[in-house]
Amino acid sequence: MSNQSAHTPVSITTLAKRKEKGQKFACLTAYDALFAELISSSGIEVLLVGDSLGMVLQGHDSTLPVTIEEMVYHMQCVRRGNRGSLIMADLPFMSYASANQSLESAAALMRAGAHIVKLEGGAWLAESTRLLAERGIPVCTHMGLTPQSINRLGGFRVQGRNPDQASTMLEEAQLLEDSGASLLLLECVPVALAKAITEKLEIPVIGIGAGPDTDGQIMVLHDMLGITPSTIRTPKFVKNFLPDSNDGIRGAFIAYAAAVRSGAFPSAEHSFS
Ligand code: KIV
Repeated sequence: MSNQSAHTPVSITTLAKRKEKGQKFACLTAYDALFAELISSSGIEVLLVGDSLGMVLQGHDSTLPVTIEEMVYHMQCVRRGNRGSLIMADLPFMSYASANQSLESAAALMRAGAHIVKLEGGAWLAESTRLLAERGIPVCTHMGLTPQSINRLGGFRVQGRNPDQASTMLEEAQLLEDSGASLLLLECVPVALAKAITEKLEIPVIGIGAGPDTDGQIMVLHDMLGITPSTIRTPKFVKNFLPDSNDGIRGAFIAYAAAVRSGAFPSAEHSFS
């Protein structure tokens, strides 16, 4: 691909500075070199090699079948296409069941080119988070709706709606920051709770279905291009940015980044009250 420029490399420090200055940032999933190049050269700050690839690429009905070997393969592809974005990679289901296993799995993804790894869970991740961070591996903790626990949660639904759940989530988010997490991702939580967590934590908070007040926003690539596979129910927080584009797919990425930075996305229709 020609005339696609790299941007100044984004690091976790870049994101922390954006939070300090009140500047929002945009993140998207990417699974291959072509889209990694298109997305990162459109100025999106973070590429997530998400285990959502199990659903949008492989056709599974959950993320559970995805293996660490598959994640490493997609990570290597994304690394080749990246033009300066921060690359975050998911540790897949059961690849971090113990702290030692999390070290091995995270090391495989870091060797493949990840800049930060993402783990789903709450307080129980404190030990792994500390271990990884102390050994130089930045961690993003994914809380709220955690798709790897879908069988325990009983479905894809909003988390933290009752006051007890909400205060536990707030406490656990603080514990994970104190344990060394560099980023937090909140999926499908009410606007007020996401706002409270974002204000309480010093680290940047990324939201998906978590309202407009988080420091960054993320979406699954296929959702924001309006090509969610028919086997997946399109969630309320999804917006197709292709109609907002005046330059095809690349224009959709630019429109998404602009809407996140201006605070225009997500609006109330894409959030849970
Ligand atoms: O795997 C993924 O794509 C994710 C996003 C939904 C945040 O974790």
